[in-house]
Amino acid sequence: MGDTRPLATGTLRRGTVEDIASFVELGRAVVPPTYGPIDAAYAQRMLDEWWTPEVFATSLERNVHVVAERDGQVVALANLGRLTRSYRDFPDVTGEREVMWKLYVHPDHQGLGLGSRLLAEIETLVEGDELWLEVVDGNDRAVGFYEAHGFAEVERSADPHWPDDLWFRKALR
Ligand SMILES: CC(C)(COP(=O)(O)OP(=O)(O)OC[C@H]1O[C@@H](n2cnc3c(N)ncnc32)[C@H](O)[C@@H]1OP(=O)(O)O)[C@@H](O)C(=O)NCCC(=O)NCCS
Repeated sequence: MGDTRPLATGTLRRGTVEDIASFVELGRAVVPPTYGPIDAAYAQRMLDEWWTPEVFATSLERNVHVVAERDGQVVALANLGRLTRSYRDFPDVTGEREVMWKLYVHPDHQGLGLGSRLLAEIETLVEGDELWLEVVDGNDRAVGFYEAHGFAEVERSADPHWPDDLWFRKALR
């Protein structure tokens, strides 16, 4: 990807530290409607623990971020990184994985192709031959989206306090 790439519905570019405030704002718009119906406390925990300026500063050092802009506003975010470089622990998982940690489109801009385009861009950045991601159990719209884009569920990480995470994988080559 060059610096910018025109799209039918916006522009894709790499994310930088200049985008951190926009990322936090995007989280406040998209996390509650996505996860509130599944577990409102979990939605709040996500915002408090994972959609913070500090976490994005670390994430930008370790992961590639791609943003979609429309009319100069960041309306969607995706990122890619290696499991072993995550700030989270995954006791259930052995080995290395290239993981799309985030794919989030602002609710006002969903269904316009931005999620598909960001996913396609992330796939071009994968160095190995498969891409992994996690979906919160109950996020049926995202599951449908990923299955329609060639992902299949591989395993489930259970947690006694929070919704399970479903690991999905797509073979790329
Ligand atoms: C899931 C999400 C990333 C998809 O992005 P989007 O920009 O809304 O989706 P797009 O417009 O690119 O693509 C929609 C395509 O997926 C298909 N699709 C969407 N939901 C689907 C579903 N539940 N079942 C089957 N197909 C589905 C549509 O038919 C469409 O296909 P088409 O392009 O062939 O018509 C976006 O809706 C989002 O951010 N949701 C909230 C946050 C979230 O759940 N993120 C994932 C966290 S793991």
